[in-house]
Amino acid sequence: MVVVPSGQHSQTKDLPMYILGINAAFHDTAAALVKDGKIIAAAEEERFTHIKHGKRPIPFSTWELPFHAIDYCLKTAGITLQDVDRIAYSFDPEGVTESSIYKSAFDDAADVLTAPDVYQDWDTLFLNYIRKAPEQLRDGYPHHLQKRLANGGDIAGKWAYVNHHVAHAASAFFPSPFHEAAVLTLDGRGEQATTGYFIGKDNSLVQIDSVDMPHSLGMLYEKITTYLGFLHSSDEYKVMALASYGRPVYLEDFRSVIHVGNDGQYTIDDFDPEQWWGAGRRKEDPFEQLHYDIAHSLQKALEETVLKLAQWLYDQTGAQNLCMAGGVALNCVMNAVIRDRGPFQHVWVQPAAGDAGTALGAAQWLDVRLNTREEGPRYTAPMEHVYWGPDYSDEEIEQFMLWAKMPYKRLTNIAKETAAILAEDKIIAWYQGRMEFGPRSLGARSILASPIHPDMQARLNDIKDREDFRPVAPVVLEDDAHEWFEGVAVSPFMLFVYPVKEDKADRIPAVRHTDGTARVQTVNRDQHPLYYDLINEFKALTGVPVLVNTSFNTRGEPIVCSPRDAIECFWTSPFDALIINSFILEKL
Ligand SMILES: [Fe+2]
Repeated sequence: MVVVPSGQHSQTKDLPMYILGINAAFHDTAAALVKDGKIIAAAEEERFTHIKHGKRPIPFSTWELPFHAIDYCLKTAGITLQDVDRIAYSFDPEGVTESSIYKSAFDDAADVLTAPDVYQDWDTLFLNYIRKAPEQLRDGYPHHLQKRLANGGDIAGKWAYVNHHVAHAASAFFPSPFHEAAVLTLDGRGEQATTGYFIGKDNSLVQIDSVDMPHSLGMLYEKITTYLGFLHSSDEYKVMALASYGRPVYLEDFRSVIHVGNDGQYTIDDFDPEQWWGAGRRKEDPFEQLHYDIAHSLQKALEETVLKLAQWLYDQTGAQNLCMAGGVALNCVMNAVIRDRGPFQHVWVQPAAGDAGTALGAAQWLDVRLNTREEGPRYTAPMEHVYWGPDYSDEEIEQFMLWAKMPYKRLTNIAKETAAILAEDKIIAWYQGRMEFGPRSLGARSILASPIHPDMQARLNDIKDREDFRPVAPVVLEDDAHEWFEGVAVSPFMLFVYPVKEDKADRIPAVRHTDGTARVQTVNRDQHPLYYDLINEFKALTGVPVLVNTSFNTRGEPIVCSPRDAIECFWTSPFDALIINSFILEKL
């Protein structure tokens, strides 16, 4: 094992070049490859296997490694597993100091898991799988991936376990635009921590404190997600959307169990929502005002609690900048509250804030540790975009379409011709360049439409078979964003909401949520030239520099990855056209 003591950096720039990061302990399994401070590739396993989130976060599945994502990373670099210099796994089994990891995380089977010794069995299974992960990587790869994964060499000798919240924190700070920042991590749980406080400065990342199990804002949100009839560790963003329709009727209930101290610590008393509000909603049940109000009250409780934690972190560090990661940091309504009412001047959130991002964070943490001096110049570059996934050439795509006897045409001016289709109020699937890393479609694998007519939200929700209450989000040219949304400057990752400007509200009704906000993506030409040009052409036709952007998938499916995925999704969904690289496929 590679051992780099906490707080110390290697004093020499030596061999390590390629560092592979792996997230596999819970869910959102993913791999990332970095080399000398630069990101080479990063992707979630779900995009290759079509199993959303890669797997469920249960002990039985802990052994599963993101082999396809690893293979993709190696392929991008033109190397094999043997060429990787270090491997960083984003969970440290030695960090588990108390038993019963699954006592609260594995509630699904709580009726059969009643005795403490049974919990202990699950913990043992979980930790053994993690300790055996190097052997699983060496021997457990699928046969069809043997080209790059067989003969991996001394994998155990290259292996390093990285603390889960350190990995989240590294993913938040090292790719951020800041030289110095406070870092706040919030998730369900890591080894013991559920909340992490750090201070980052160039190549240094030091943990200040943590909040440990069983007190977890992430798990509180998961618990209510389950109560409201959704899938926990997956559908929390639906609860956030539901919250906009509610009132803070039950906020005092949440306040009665969440206790925030003056020392950055908080506790959450155990409670049974069924005793408070009766039987939970079942998946097929209709939504009632009760559900909206519970979601709203939970959201408000989360926001006011995290505001207090952020204030404490600010008081401790005096930093002007805040970086965030962890699954809770995907809550873009909460992020906006921290931005607007918190003490920090600037807030940056890792776009892959969930556990997938720990693959990147673990790799970057190890890379920085091994290759820098703590007091040296900043080693890692800011992450300007998320396009770290696979891409395919025109030749590959055309060959596939010819083979499949598919009707297609080549476009001469992709941006202009696509904008004209969108201006006719048609809904298109847009597949361009490298796939996004993280849960959001940001113009590489997107469904795009005009925001000008109010019925577009309902049309899209119908086409994607989504719940009616879910909003769709806008993408706007970065230069024009301030004219359309209050207070927005740069928001490339769709991680914050902003109010739609009053004088523009009736121009883009489809993207204005019931509370008057929108989850904005801004784009500049450097980030994705073709995407930018498309919106610019749409603006030339309509006067509106905004499109609706939602993920290129259908209900229950991960976002598409390969051309085959895109074409299958297109032909089995009522989209009007698919623009895939230089080609267009249209329906009659
Ligand atoms: Fe996490």
